[in-house]
Amino acid sequence: MSDLEFIVFLLPSILSLLLICYLIIKRKQTVLNLPPGNMGWPFLGETIGYLKPYSATSIGEFMEQHISRYGKIYKSNLFGEPTIVSADAGLNRFIMQNEGRLFECSYPRSIGGILGKWSMLVLVGDMHRDMRTISLNFLSHARLRTHLLRDVEKHTLLVLRSWKENSTFSAQDEAKKYTFNLMAKHIMSLDPGKPETEQLKKEYITFMKGVVSAPLNLPGTAYRKALQSRSIILKFIERKMEERIQKTEEGCESSEEDDLLGWVLKNSNLSKEQILDLVLSLLFAGHETSSVSIALAIYFLEGCPTAVQQLREEHLEIARAKKQSGELGLTWEDYKKMDFTQCVISETLRFGNVVRFLHRKAVKDVRYKGYDIPCGWKVLPVIAAVHLDPSLFDQPQHFNPWRWQQNNGNRGCSSTCSGTTSNNFMPFGGGPRLCAGSELAKLEMAVFIHHLVLNFHWELADMDHAYAFPFVDFPKGLPIRVQHHTFM
Ligand code: HEM
Repeated sequence: MSDLEFIVFLLPSILSLLLICYLIIKRKQTVLNLPPGNMGWPFLGETIGYLKPYSATSIGEFMEQHISRYGKIYKSNLFGEPTIVSADAGLNRFIMQNEGRLFECSYPRSIGGILGKWSMLVLVGDMHRDMRTISLNFLSHARLRTHLLRDVEKHTLLVLRSWKENSTFSAQDEAKKYTFNLMAKHIMSLDPGKPETEQLKKEYITFMKGVVSAPLNLPGTAYRKALQSRSIILKFIERKMEERIQKTEEGCESSEEDDLLGWVLKNSNLSKEQILDLVLSLLFAGHETSSVSIALAIYFLEGCPTAVQQLREEHLEIARAKKQSGELGLTWEDYKKMDFTQCVISETLRFGNVVRFLHRKAVKDVRYKGYDIPCGWKVLPVIAAVHLDPSLFDQPQHFNPWRWQQNNGNRGCSSTCSGTTSNNFMPFGGGPRLCAGSELAKLEMAVFIHHLVLNFHWELADMDHAYAFPFVDFPKGLPIRVQHHTFM
């Protein structure tokens, strides 16, 4: 029998097999009550439409159209996988609270490739728990009070004091400088402005561009360059680690022991590879999100003079009391007095949505509100869609920090916002993967706002706006012009 005859002979069997598979899948899908939706093109699905950039203070055309056509829970095909997209506050909470039982963190493989297989963002199970414990220890409430507050203020002043009268610069770059320097100091005791810190910052910019780019490992692509930066950064961290081990062996331990690297070397039995990925991913998680949040606050406040005025009054009161008592530097008690500031922070996070959606997958067949979510399907809880939902937040398209006061019935809203608002407010995710740095992020924002409103007037030097790419970014870097003012 010739090859051709052999193929013709087999063809009916192959076609019948394919038909049977198709019918089994079809039957499974018709038996299941999947949410409505469109699976889009083969393989590509609807990914291109989903990732099309849009204003960060909206949910974008794709989401709008899909929600109006299918409702807040719909099926699609995204990132090459069948997916359930949720803009439903209840389902989002259900997904986050059932992490490890019904759902599991599942970021695209490209993220693991660049952040490393031991990065907290991609780890699940016991290993995630161990890494999380280390991070929580490093970012504990006690450490925030005793170590971080002092340095947060120091790094804020370092940046703000470099602002020249009437000068124009990128507010986003300044915010990045601030949060990067702070993280580099607390993770590896690197000092701002030193050549090694500046070198690391430079590599980090290339690295970041790759994290958010298409995962094409081809010569010249942002992804390829980021992989190269990743290995340079890892070599740098490794060198620091070796220096530290040597110092300990020689008995010349110093205050450096207080940083994350020192703590991990002393108190954990993580391998070298694990420590490297942990340090890299904490640098990533700890500076990118908070710098964008600070840029967003500067942007929203510029358009809301009444809020700036109220902030100024709050911070003047704190500053005057300190002057009277002759006390220098902000204390935890001062921070706790920043009630309206906390409302501004919450509103910035609600309206700006730095992290727009999370990546999860169902690890069991799940039924929710009559819909089936099959085991193995990807699930995307879209936090931004809840924060901008008019049925949950009155006039969600308005920057309105006072909404956080009214809801509360109290003056402040820092930690006690109750009812619908706080229940549906999840800028830091939730459940067992709730952001480990949420308290630090709020502290960084509050201290920055304190010194900003007490010392400066600012305005946009050029029109700019935050876009979701889906990572949030100001295309022009948020250029602002500043004037010094002493309000005391
Ligand atoms: C406003 C700023 C920030 C926002 C909006 C934010 C948001 C988030 C969100 C939504 C998650 C959950 C990811 C998921 O469930 O898949 C997360 C996780 C995490 N964040 Fe943040 N974050 C911020 C600042 C920080 C800072 C300053 C740090 C400090 C190092 C940090 C460290 C982490 C870590 C370690 C995780 C992983 C937690 C885990 O998997 O258990 N974040 N963040």
